[in-house]
This record gives sequence, C-alpha cells and structure tokens, in this order.
Amino acid sequence: MEKPYVFITRKLPEEVVAPFREQLNIRMWESEFEPVDRNLLKKEAKQANGLLTMLTDQVDEELLIDAAHLRIVANMAVGFDNIDVENAKKHKVIVTNTPDVLTDTTADLAFGLLMATARRIVEAADFIKEGEWGQWSPFLLAGSDIHHKKLGIVGMGRIGEAVAKRAQGFDMEVSYHNRSRKKDVEKELSIQYENLDDLLRSSDFIMCLVPLTKETKHLFNEESFKKMKKSATFINVSRGATVDEHALYEALISKEIKGAGLDVFEKEPISSSHPLLSLEQVICLPHIGSASIETRQKMIQLSLDNLSRVLHGDSAITPIN
Ligand code: DGY
Repeated sequence: MEKPYVFITRKLPEEVVAPFREQLNIRMWESEFEPVDRNLLKKEAKQANGLLTMLTDQVDEELLIDAAHLRIVANMAVGFDNIDVENAKKHKVIVTNTPDVLTDTTADLAFGLLMATARRIVEAADFIKEGEWGQWSPFLLAGSDIHHKKLGIVGMGRIGEAVAKRAQGFDMEVSYHNRSRKKDVEKELSIQYENLDDLLRSSDFIMCLVPLTKETKHLFNEESFKKMKKSATFINVSRGATVDEHALYEALISKEIKGAGLDVFEKEPISSSHPLLSLEQVICLPHIGSASIETRQKMIQLSLDNLSRVLHGDSAITPIN
C-alpha cells in the first residue's frame, strides 16, 4: 500500500522526522527560517493527505477548497488562529494543535519576561555593554518589585495555571479573568476570580494569555489601558492582535501605564522602526514563548504522531475540531 503523503511547511530536524518516514511519505519546505511560498503551499495542499503547518501559514477556504485528498492539518502550535477551523470541518479535514507539551516552557518565558520588564534587566545589560556604567548609585536602573505585588492573568488556560504557580513562589497575589470560572483551580492555587474591569484596575502586572478569536481581537485597547494603574506593567505572550498596539503605545508615552513586555505582535516580524521598539520601558521578543529545544522537538513529535495516527485510521491525540 502506498504511504500517505505529508508536506511539512518548514525544514525540521531530520532526526525528529526520520522515524516517521517508514510510515509516511514526507516532503519538507527547504527553509528553516522562511515560510513556505503561498503558491507552493496551495499546490502541495492539492496533493497532500496531511500538512504539518506553522503559525505563519494561513490555512483558509482558498487553500481547503482544492485540497481534495487532505485529511489532517497538524499545526505546530497550541494557538490555531491561522487556521479556518470551521471550514476545515466543512471539508472533513481534522485539525490538531500541540497543547500540554509547551505549557511549562511558555509559562517560564512569560514569567521571565515579567521579571525582565519589572527589573529592567535588558536595559541594565545593554547599559554595561555600552560602557555607560560609571559608579554604583542608589537608584541606578531601579525597577519595580515583583514579590508581594498583584498579578492579573487574563485567560486562565493551562499556561495561565502554570504562570500562577510560578507567581506563588514569588509571594504574589494572583487574580484571573476567564470566560468561565475555574473554582477547582482557584482552590488549588489560592487565586481569585475577578471581572475584567476590577482586575485591570487593581493589578500591578497584567498578563494576556487569551487565544486570538473574534471576541478577543483588541481586547486590550485605549479603554483598558486607561483603567490600569499608572504603575502597571502589561505582558503579552498570546497573540499580538489581542492588543491595539497604537493604544498601547499611546498609553506608554502618556504614562497611563509604566511598561510592557511583548513576545507577540499584530504583524510578525515587527518592523525594527515600529514605535514600540523605541521605548526603553518596553521589552520586545520575537515570539519565543515555547522556544526551547526540548519543547520544539516535542511539538514536532506530537504533530507527526497526530499525522501518522489519523492517516493510518486512528484518532488524533490532540484534535481541535
Ligand atoms: C503557540 O504554540 O501558539 C505559540 O505561540 C508558538 O509556539
């Protein structure tokens, strides 16, 4: 019997892919760094039984309509806003993502970004490298405390819970806002539920961890930044479009809020001339939430496991639809 054909939209390490070549006929896009050309992706989707996609690939109606043989799209991310899941369902294409394997890694980065922003770690490291350190002085690069402050998490999924656990170790008070209340988690982690307004008004650190949907697009806007404390720091590690970046920039320069740590942007890669990058109270990272070698390998492995199972008649491990 012919092996099912799978197209992978980025060049991935052969040692992770190789074990699957026995069961699957696999072809990969040639570049590790550049997304696959859209026309080539459409051409591949027409003949492939499975696609292993990245968050940089748009899987939409235009692609799905001609994908006559496609049975599964395995997205190598926990987020799947790049995929038209409803349309995939209409075309009987299973969509999978990579939850769980990246939870702790992403929570580590989220908490690290919070700490780096509060304690001005990047600015301080640059200060030394640029030869600006003259003398020690009492308020040289003094930041804000993290311990005993209040963290407001918006979006209490797996990553939110993992961040809340880390915050406990720093003696932080943690509140959360979520579509639905999670009483078991409240009890287990000693955290409290708040409506969004109360959380925004009372938190010292506000962290966005909601998935990007029609409802969460620009959830953080002019109004929300106005509600925050003037001393508040905003952290985003979910998707850039949950934030109105113009409103965030205005809030920062007019000192409505104190600082921001951003791992994600409305348009990625963000242009190096973007106004947010000119602000010293902002730390920007190139979407590296789940970027540890171990975790990226697990994400590839899980995506390939999903592909192999579905294309051999089994159920997916982590289906979305
Ligand atoms: C995700 O998984 O959605 C991250 O943003 C990329 O790893």
